[in-house]
Amino acid sequence: MGKRLHLAAALLATVIVTVFCAATLTVELLGTRPQIALVKQLIVFPGLAILIPALVVTGLSGNRLARGHRHPLVGRKMTRMRLIAGNGILILVPCALYLSHLASANRFDARFATIQGLEICAGITNIVLMALNIRDGLRIRRGPQGDVADDRGAR
Ligand code: HEM
Repeated sequence: MGKRLHLAAALLATVIVTVFCAATLTVELLGTRPQIALVKQLIVFPGLAILIPALVVTGLSGNRLARGHRHPLVGRKMTRMRLIAGNGILILVPCALYLSHLASANRFDARFATIQGLEICAGITNIVLMALNIRDGLRIRRGPQGDVADDRGAR
């Protein structure tokens, strides 16, 4: 149950961040201003209302799974999770709120562009960190034998 919950929450969170980034880039390259404002608003709600609990469940269930493990990759996953959370709380959530506010006021100025650039960079960073955590989660699941098999395959 713990593993399934971790898997489901982790994949949901990763998909949501990827969809946020893809929707933002698509609408800003191809969409109208009202469409951009709509996407920015949907990212705040219901987007963040789904993403934040999914990340909390991922972290909590991951920590619980980590208790039974001595695998060296567990520590790396935990460090990445801290970076993901810090990035989210300090950069992504404030950017999402501010961009939605600016877009709803039709203020597509230099400030909007700068904050949008920052949000995209932080978002892509989190997607990469989450992808690395998926890779290491699958490696941990395979166990030490999986690692040996990998080494043989690489030779
Ligand atoms: C966004 C962050 C994370 C993502 C995307 C993620 C993703 C995954 C995935 C896809 C698996 C494989 C599950 C399966 O196939 O059943 C996994 C397993 C695992 N994860 Fe995470 N994880 C994250 C955070 C964490 C954290 C913070 C920890 C705590 C250190 C953690 C510890 C583990 C452990 C120990 C397993 C192996 C479970 C087992 O097979 O015994 N994960 N993770």
